[in-house]
Amino acid sequence: MNRPCLILFGPPGSGKGTQAKFLRDTLQIAHISTGDMLRERVSAGDELGREVAGIMKSGGLVPDETVYHLVVDRIERPDCANGFLLDGFPRTVKQARLLSELLDVQGISPLVIFLKVDYNVIIARLSGRRLCPTCGAVYNLSSSAPEEAKVCDLDGTRLVSRDDDRPGVVLDRLKAYERETAPVLDFFRSVNYPIFEVDGTSRPPVEIAREIRILIEKKYGSVPVSVSKA
Ligand code: AP5
Repeated sequence: MNRPCLILFGPPGSGKGTQAKFLRDTLQIAHISTGDMLRERVSAGDELGREVAGIMKSGGLVPDETVYHLVVDRIERPDCANGFLLDGFPRTVKQARLLSELLDVQGISPLVIFLKVDYNVIIARLSGRRLCPTCGAVYNLSSSAPEEAKVCDLDGTRLVSRDDDRPGVVLDRLKAYERETAPVLDFFRSVNYPIFEVDGTSRPPVEIAREIRILIEKKYGSVPVSVSKA
C-alpha cells in the first residue's frame, strides 16, 4: 500500500477537525492540524506563539514559511510513517507548492477531500462551537451539545469558545479563505491531485466520515483499522 496522505480541505468550520478525529481514531494515520499546533504555541507563550497570536485572533493567515516548517518537522515524526492527514494545510498556493515538492521527493501521492459547506451553516456552527481546554473535545450547542450545559462530558472541565469564533472574525476568516485558500484547488488540479467533493452541510459527521473512508480505500487499498486511539 502507498503511504496515505489525506488533505482535508475546506473553509473554516466545514468540519475538517471533526472528520480528522474520526479518521485518526479508526485508521492508523497521524493527524496534523496546523491550527492546533499554532494554538499550542500561543498557549505556551513562546516566541513563535507571541508572533502569531495577534494574526490568529484577527482571523488572518500566519506566514507561509512559519507554517511550512512546523509541518515539515511534524511529518518527520515516527507516527507519520504509516501515513498522515493534513487538516488546515496547505492554505495558500505557496504552501501547496512547497507541499507538492516535499511529497514528490518522498514519492507520496495525496488524496484531496474538499468538504463543501454552505457559508450560512458555517456561521451558525462556529457561533455554537465549544471546546474543552483540558482534553480538546469539540462540541456544538446545536448538533452535539454536552450532556451537562457548559461542561465537558469527558472530564468535567468548563467549556470555552475560540477567540476567532466571534462573528466579526468568522467573516474575516471566510474572506481570507476566499482570497488565499480557495485558489489552492486550481493548484491541486494543475498537479493532477485527485479531488473529491464531499457534502458536509446537511449530514451527521459519522456519515461523512464513512464516505471519506470509502474514498481512501479506493485510492490506497484496504487501510488498517486501529482498535485504540492513534
Ligand atoms: P484552524 O484551526 O485550521 O481553523 P479553520 O480552518 O478556520 O477551521 P476550524 O478549526 O474553525 O473548523 P473545522 O473545519 O476544523 O471545523 P470543526 O470540525 O471544528 O486555523 C485557525 C487559525 O490558525 C487560522 O485562522 C490561521 O490564523 C492559523 N492557521 C492555521 N493553519 C494555517 C495555515 N496553513 N496557514 C496560515 N495560517 C494558518 O467543526 C466546526 C463546528 O461544527 C464544531 O462545533 C463541530 O462540532 C460542528 N460540526 C462539524 N461537522 C458537523 C456536521 N457534519 N454537522 C453539524 N455540525 C458539525
